[in-house]
Amino acid sequence: MQFSTKKTDVLSQKTGCAVVFAFANTLLPSAKILDEQHGGALSALIDQKDLKLSAGHKRWITLPLGNTPYQRVMLVQLGKPVSNKQHAIKSDNLINAFTSLATGLKQSPVKDATVYIDDIFTQNIDINHADECVDTSWVTEQLAIALEKSFYTYSQTKSKPAPKPALTKIVYASIDSARTKSAKTALARGAALGAGINLARELGNLPPNICTPTYLANLAKTLASNSNKKLTARDLNQKQMEKLGMGAFLSVAKGSSEEGRMIIMEYKGTSAANSKPHVLVGKGVTFDTGGISLKPGSGMDEMKFDMCGAASVFGSIKALVDMKAKVHVVAIVAAAENMPAGNASKPGDVVTSMSGQTIEILNTDAEGRLVLCDALTYAERFKPKSVVDIATLTGACVVALGNHASALYTNHQPLAEKLLSAGIAANDKAWQMPLWDEYQKQLDSNFADMANIGGMPGGSITAACFLSRYAKKYHWAHLDIAGTAWHSGARKGATGRPVALLVNYLLNT
Ligand code: BES
Ligand code: MN
Ligand code: ZN
Repeated sequence: MQFSTKKTDVLSQKTGCAVVFAFANTLLPSAKILDEQHGGALSALIDQKDLKLSAGHKRWITLPLGNTPYQRVMLVQLGKPVSNKQHAIKSDNLINAFTSLATGLKQSPVKDATVYIDDIFTQNIDINHADECVDTSWVTEQLAIALEKSFYTYSQTKSKPAPKPALTKIVYASIDSARTKSAKTALARGAALGAGINLARELGNLPPNICTPTYLANLAKTLASNSNKKLTARDLNQKQMEKLGMGAFLSVAKGSSEEGRMIIMEYKGTSAANSKPHVLVGKGVTFDTGGISLKPGSGMDEMKFDMCGAASVFGSIKALVDMKAKVHVVAIVAAAENMPAGNASKPGDVVTSMSGQTIEILNTDAEGRLVLCDALTYAERFKPKSVVDIATLTGACVVALGNHASALYTNHQPLAEKLLSAGIAANDKAWQMPLWDEYQKQLDSNFADMANIGGMPGGSITAACFLSRYAKKYHWAHLDIAGTAWHSGARKGATGRPVALLVNYLLNT
């Protein structure tokens, strides 16, 4: 998608489609101008209730060829105002409207469209009821993200790729030249973030016979070679991990004929010589059968999404590279396949992690924490400013929070505040869960320093407790994204979450 900005008004711009907005029953200024031009055709959509009040509902008007510089008008609904603030657009509604205009354009024969953004700024925007008036760049970025995301279609393993949408150009139009000028950076940032989110979706969606640990290791190298030397990538093979004593990681990888990889990327967008990095750690279980503690068969295909934590790390790194962000980030991806086999780990096995702590594997399906704990110990060598791990870690997390919020755990409250607010700003929310000592007891083992499971109660919490034992030397947070990383059912597919949260956090910290 090509974004450009232009100082122009709604009557003079030559375009395949003029996109204008309604806010509940009110036509916003550009819509009003077009309405007058076309004998009340837009107000009729509202008066006759053809345009619904739900955010994102839209109506098109196609005009006779050659009569106007614009060939179509799309009227998009921004929804009802926030209940106690008459002039405030809900940020969720705004994003719904942007997504809807994007999907509408994608399905249409329109080759280029112009969005009259000034309309949005005639109102306030209430970002998730945070009582905050959001700035131009936020809105602009959301528009670019929505367009990029909507234009993603999975096609890598279809014999015929989906037909390419006709739309290739979006013009961001305003009558205010300061606004079009300042929008350029925000559009570029939104496009980069959208591309990062789409990479995470693509990796999640790829079948597990393609997206293996080796595939991810190669991808890291490809990203590095397209980064203008800002990103470096390497990976540890089995021998190197044996030498480091990563017995927990290897206990998972060993049951598979796909070799496990610990992938390390370093993005240095700052010139400061000795800056300490923020570290991201991603769970990259490219398929989780459960191992010897085999999962039931129904729906097991969805365990190809068990590398979505890793996918979000790749997506975030790509976004940072694309936007040339001035940050220093190390990414560690613990990539392995969890399989049952003659040489797979068994319930009752005791393994020694890189930290020296021993673990009794009571359930081989609690493999995520085993691959992550060694990655967390490895992270110590970077003397990190913060470490955030991202993992589709527990089914219990889905029970607790459903599909709307990722679970957040931390050993440093200021880090939680930063991640929570990044999630709100990015429309990629997290909710903090307790990490109290009381829960730690559930991990007691008679035969090792700890067990790898804590029983049924509070399963997402005890998984976080397990990880916390490997994250004592730095400020650490854990995001359990089991409920947010992908959709099931007819919309089955990876969401790209929490790339937006992570990138927002890294840019603001
Ligand atoms: N990858 C799963 C978690 C998962 C399950 C995410 C379903 C999303 C949907 C993880 O490796 C796992 O199997 N966890 C077990 C832990 C249990 C054995 C303590 C679980 O949640 O059942
Ligand atoms: Mn598992
Ligand atoms: Zn898993």
